[in-house]
Amino acid sequence: MPMNIAIDGPVGAGKSSIADHVARRLNILHLDTGAMYRAFGLYALRSGVDLASEEALSALVEKVDVQVEYADGAQRTLLFGEDVSDLIRTGEVSAAASAVSKWPAVRRRMVRAQQEMAARADMLIDGRDIGTVVLKDSPCKIYLTAASEERARRRYVQQLAKGDNTPFDQVLRELIARDEQDMNRKTDPLRQAEDAVLVDSTNMTEEETVEAIVKIVEEVYGKQ
Ligand code: DC
Repeated sequence: MPMNIAIDGPVGAGKSSIADHVARRLNILHLDTGAMYRAFGLYALRSGVDLASEEALSALVEKVDVQVEYADGAQRTLLFGEDVSDLIRTGEVSAAASAVSKWPAVRRRMVRAQQEMAARADMLIDGRDIGTVVLKDSPCKIYLTAASEERARRRYVQQLAKGDNTPFDQVLRELIARDEQDMNRKTDPLRQAEDAVLVDSTNMTEEETVEAIVKIVEEVYGKQ
Protein backbone atom coordinates (compact mmCIF):
# COMPACT_ATOMS: atom_id res chain seq x y z
CA MET A 1 0.00 0.00 0.00
CA PRO A 2 1.44 3.39 -0.94
CA MET A 3 1.73 6.07 1.72
CA ASN A 4 -1.20 8.42 1.09
CA ILE A 5 -1.75 11.61 3.05
CA ALA A 6 -4.90 13.73 2.78
CA ILE A 7 -4.95 17.48 3.36
CA ASP A 8 -8.21 19.41 3.07
CA GLY A 9 -9.15 22.94 3.93
CA PRO A 10 -10.73 26.16 2.70
CA VAL A 11 -9.40 28.75 0.26
CA GLY A 12 -6.16 30.40 1.29
CA ALA A 13 -5.38 28.11 4.22
CA GLY A 14 -1.96 27.66 2.59
CA LYS A 15 -2.67 24.04 1.63
CA SER A 16 -0.76 24.10 -1.64
CA SER A 17 2.44 25.66 -0.43
CA ILE A 18 2.41 23.83 2.91
CA ALA A 19 1.67 20.53 1.14
CA ASP A 20 4.55 21.22 -1.25
CA HIS A 21 6.99 21.71 1.63
CA VAL A 22 5.75 18.67 3.54
CA ALA A 23 5.92 16.46 0.43
CA ARG A 24 9.49 17.58 -0.27
CA ARG A 25 10.48 16.84 3.33
CA LEU A 26 8.97 13.36 3.02
CA ASN A 27 10.34 12.92 -0.50
CA ILE A 28 6.96 12.03 -1.97
CA LEU A 29 4.81 13.60 -4.69
CA HIS A 30 2.26 16.30 -4.00
CA LEU A 31 -0.96 16.22 -5.98
CA ASP A 32 -2.82 19.55 -5.99
CA THR A 33 -6.33 18.45 -6.99
CA GLY A 34 -7.61 22.04 -7.16
CA ALA A 35 -5.40 22.44 -10.24
CA MET A 36 -7.37 19.68 -11.97
CA TYR A 37 -10.72 21.40 -11.29
CA ARG A 38 -9.13 24.67 -12.39
CA ALA A 39 -7.93 23.14 -15.67
CA PHE A 40 -11.44 21.86 -16.31
CA GLY A 41 -12.85 25.28 -15.34
CA LEU A 42 -10.54 26.90 -17.90
CA TYR A 43 -11.70 24.45 -20.55
CA ALA A 44 -15.33 25.24 -19.71
CA LEU A 45 -14.63 28.98 -20.00
CA ARG A 46 -12.87 28.49 -23.33
CA SER A 47 -15.70 26.32 -24.58
CA GLY A 48 -18.21 29.03 -23.69
CA VAL A 49 -20.61 26.66 -21.95
CA ASP A 50 -22.98 27.81 -19.22
CA LEU A 51 -21.20 27.03 -15.95
CA ALA A 52 -24.57 26.64 -14.26
CA SER A 53 -25.70 23.93 -16.68
CA GLU A 54 -25.24 20.47 -15.22
CA GLU A 55 -26.05 18.89 -18.55
CA ALA A 56 -23.48 20.90 -20.52
CA LEU A 57 -20.73 20.31 -17.97
CA SER A 58 -21.47 16.60 -17.61
CA ALA A 59 -21.05 16.26 -21.37
CA LEU A 60 -17.93 18.42 -21.42
CA VAL A 61 -16.15 16.48 -18.68
CA GLU A 62 -16.42 13.34 -20.80
CA LYS A 63 -14.33 15.06 -23.49
CA VAL A 64 -11.70 16.81 -21.40
CA ASP A 65 -8.12 15.60 -21.15
CA VAL A 66 -6.49 16.79 -17.92
CA GLN A 67 -3.13 15.27 -17.01
CA VAL A 68 -0.69 15.88 -14.21
CA GLU A 69 3.06 15.61 -14.71
CA TYR A 70 6.04 16.27 -12.47
CA ALA A 71 9.10 18.29 -13.44
CA ASP A 72 11.82 18.42 -10.73
CA GLY A 73 9.18 17.36 -8.20
CA ALA A 74 6.83 20.22 -9.14
CA GLN A 75 3.38 19.55 -10.55
CA ARG A 76 2.56 20.71 -14.06
CA THR A 77 -1.08 20.56 -15.09
CA LEU A 78 -1.84 19.83 -18.73
CA LEU A 79 -5.06 20.51 -20.61
CA PHE A 80 -5.05 18.54 -23.87
CA GLY A 81 -1.24 18.53 -23.58
CA GLU A 82 -0.98 22.31 -23.07
CA ASP A 83 0.79 23.33 -19.86
CA VAL A 84 -1.84 25.54 -18.17
CA SER A 85 -0.19 25.58 -14.71
CA ASP A 86 0.12 29.38 -14.70
CA LEU A 87 -3.01 30.23 -16.70
CA ILE A 88 -5.25 28.56 -14.12
CA ARG A 89 -4.25 30.92 -11.30
CA THR A 90 -6.49 33.87 -12.27
CA GLY A 91 -9.55 35.01 -10.29
CA GLU A 92 -11.77 34.16 -13.24
CA VAL A 93 -10.53 30.57 -13.33
CA SER A 94 -10.80 30.26 -9.51
CA ALA A 95 -14.48 31.18 -9.68
CA ALA A 96 -15.04 28.85 -12.67
CA ALA A 97 -13.31 25.96 -10.86
CA SER A 98 -15.53 26.44 -7.85
CA ALA A 99 -18.64 26.59 -10.06
CA VAL A 100 -17.88 23.50 -12.18
CA SER A 101 -16.72 21.40 -9.23
CA LYS A 102 -20.18 21.23 -7.73
CA TRP A 103 -21.54 18.89 -10.42
CA PRO A 104 -21.47 15.16 -9.55
CA ALA A 105 -20.33 14.01 -13.02
CA VAL A 106 -17.37 16.37 -12.88
CA ARG A 107 -16.41 15.19 -9.40
CA ARG A 108 -16.73 11.51 -10.30
CA ARG A 109 -14.34 11.88 -13.20
CA MET A 110 -11.75 13.84 -11.21
CA VAL A 111 -11.99 11.60 -8.12
CA ARG A 112 -11.42 8.50 -10.26
CA ALA A 113 -8.29 10.00 -11.84
CA GLN A 114 -6.97 11.07 -8.42
CA GLN A 115 -7.55 7.64 -6.88
CA GLU A 116 -5.72 6.00 -9.78
CA MET A 117 -2.71 8.24 -9.21
CA ALA A 118 -2.78 7.64 -5.44
CA ALA A 119 -2.81 3.88 -5.95
CA ARG A 120 0.41 4.04 -7.95
CA ALA A 121 2.71 6.14 -5.73
CA ASP A 122 3.36 7.55 -2.28
CA MET A 123 1.53 10.81 -2.44
CA LEU A 124 0.31 13.76 -0.43
CA ILE A 125 -2.97 15.00 -1.89
CA ASP A 126 -4.61 18.32 -1.12
CA GLY A 127 -8.12 19.48 -1.94
CA ARG A 128 -11.60 19.71 -0.45
CA ASP A 129 -12.85 16.09 -0.42
CA ILE A 130 -9.62 14.15 -0.02
CA GLY A 131 -10.17 12.89 3.54
CA THR A 132 -13.90 12.37 3.00
CA VAL A 133 -13.91 10.81 -0.51
CA VAL A 134 -10.70 10.42 -2.51
CA LEU A 135 -8.61 8.90 0.31
CA LYS A 136 -11.41 8.10 2.71
CA ASP A 137 -9.55 4.99 3.93
CA SER A 138 -6.24 6.77 4.49
CA PRO A 139 -4.97 6.56 8.07
CA CYS A 140 -3.46 10.03 7.75
CA LYS A 141 -5.77 13.01 7.30
CA ILE A 142 -5.25 16.67 8.09
CA TYR A 143 -7.76 19.52 8.00
CA LEU A 144 -5.82 22.75 7.60
CA THR A 145 -7.60 26.01 8.23
CA ALA A 146 -7.14 29.58 9.51
CA ALA A 147 -9.47 32.49 10.33
CA SER A 148 -10.99 33.95 7.15
CA GLU A 149 -9.50 37.43 7.74
CA GLU A 150 -6.05 35.89 8.06
CA ARG A 151 -6.52 33.74 4.95
CA ALA A 152 -7.65 36.80 3.00
CA ARG A 153 -4.67 38.80 4.33
CA ARG A 154 -2.24 36.12 3.12
CA ARG A 155 -3.91 35.95 -0.28
CA TYR A 156 -3.88 39.77 -0.52
CA VAL A 157 -0.13 39.97 0.23
CA GLN A 158 0.60 37.18 -2.27
CA GLN A 159 -1.40 38.93 -4.99
CA LEU A 160 0.22 42.31 -4.30
CA ALA A 161 3.64 40.71 -4.72
CA LYS A 162 2.49 39.56 -8.16
CA GLY A 163 1.37 43.10 -9.06
CA ASP A 164 -2.35 42.40 -8.53
CA ASN A 165 -3.86 45.37 -6.66
CA THR A 166 -7.27 43.87 -5.84
CA PRO A 167 -8.39 45.63 -2.62
CA PHE A 168 -8.37 43.62 0.62
CA ASP A 169 -12.14 43.90 1.07
CA GLN A 170 -12.74 42.34 -2.33
CA VAL A 171 -10.24 39.53 -1.66
CA LEU A 172 -12.06 38.79 1.61
CA ARG A 173 -15.49 38.91 -0.04
CA GLU A 174 -14.44 36.55 -2.86
CA LEU A 175 -12.83 34.16 -0.39
CA ILE A 176 -15.97 33.99 1.75
CA ALA A 177 -18.11 33.45 -1.38
CA ARG A 178 -15.92 30.57 -2.54
CA ASP A 179 -15.93 29.00 0.96
CA GLU A 180 -19.72 29.21 0.95
CA GLN A 181 -19.96 27.53 -2.42
CA ASP A 182 -17.44 24.79 -1.56
CA MET A 183 -18.94 24.04 1.86
CA ASN A 184 -22.59 24.10 0.87
CA ARG A 185 -22.69 22.19 -2.40
CA LYS A 186 -24.67 18.94 -2.31
CA THR A 187 -21.95 16.63 -3.63
CA ASP A 188 -18.91 16.12 -1.43
CA PRO A 189 -18.84 19.53 0.23
CA LEU A 190 -15.73 20.69 2.02
CA ARG A 191 -15.81 19.41 5.59
CA GLN A 192 -13.42 17.98 8.11
CA ALA A 193 -13.40 14.17 8.02
CA GLU A 194 -14.23 12.69 11.43
CA ASP A 195 -10.78 11.13 11.67
CA ALA A 196 -8.85 14.16 10.39
CA VAL A 197 -6.51 16.09 12.66
CA LEU A 198 -7.32 19.81 12.78
CA VAL A 199 -4.44 22.24 12.23
CA ASP A 200 -5.43 25.89 12.70
CA SER A 201 -2.58 27.99 11.29
CA THR A 202 -4.05 31.43 12.15
CA ASN A 203 -1.21 32.16 14.56
CA MET A 204 1.42 29.88 13.05
CA THR A 205 4.22 30.60 10.60
CA GLU A 206 4.56 28.50 7.48
CA GLU A 207 7.55 26.67 9.01
CA GLU A 208 5.60 25.88 12.19
CA THR A 209 2.69 24.57 10.15
CA VAL A 210 4.99 22.35 8.08
CA GLU A 211 6.58 20.99 11.27
CA ALA A 212 3.17 20.30 12.84
CA ILE A 213 2.03 18.35 9.77
CA VAL A 214 5.27 16.37 9.40
CA LYS A 215 4.84 15.38 13.07
CA ILE A 216 1.28 14.17 12.44
CA VAL A 217 2.46 12.13 9.43
CA GLU A 218 5.30 10.60 11.44
CA GLU A 219 2.91 9.63 14.20
CA VAL A 220 0.97 7.57 11.63
CA TYR A 221 3.69 6.28 9.30
CA GLY A 222 6.77 6.49 11.56
CA LYS A 223 9.83 8.65 11.00
CA GLN A 224 10.55 9.07 7.29
O1 DC B 1 -7.64 24.51 -4.05
P1 DC B 1 -8.07 25.44 -5.18
O2 DC B 1 -8.43 26.81 -4.70
O3 DC B 1 -7.05 25.48 -6.27
O4 DC B 1 -9.39 24.77 -5.80
C1 DC B 1 -10.14 25.39 -6.81
C2 DC B 1 -11.60 24.99 -6.71
O5 DC B 1 -11.74 23.60 -7.03
C3 DC B 1 -12.21 25.15 -5.32
O6 DC B 1 -12.93 26.36 -5.20
C4 DC B 1 -13.11 23.97 -5.15
C5 DC B 1 -12.66 22.96 -6.16
N1 DC B 1 -12.05 21.77 -5.59
C6 DC B 1 -12.89 20.75 -5.24
O7 DC B 1 -14.10 20.89 -5.33
N2 DC B 1 -12.37 19.57 -4.78
C7 DC B 1 -11.06 19.42 -4.65
N3 DC B 1 -10.58 18.24 -4.22
C8 DC B 1 -10.18 20.47 -4.98
C9 DC B 1 -10.71 21.66 -5.43
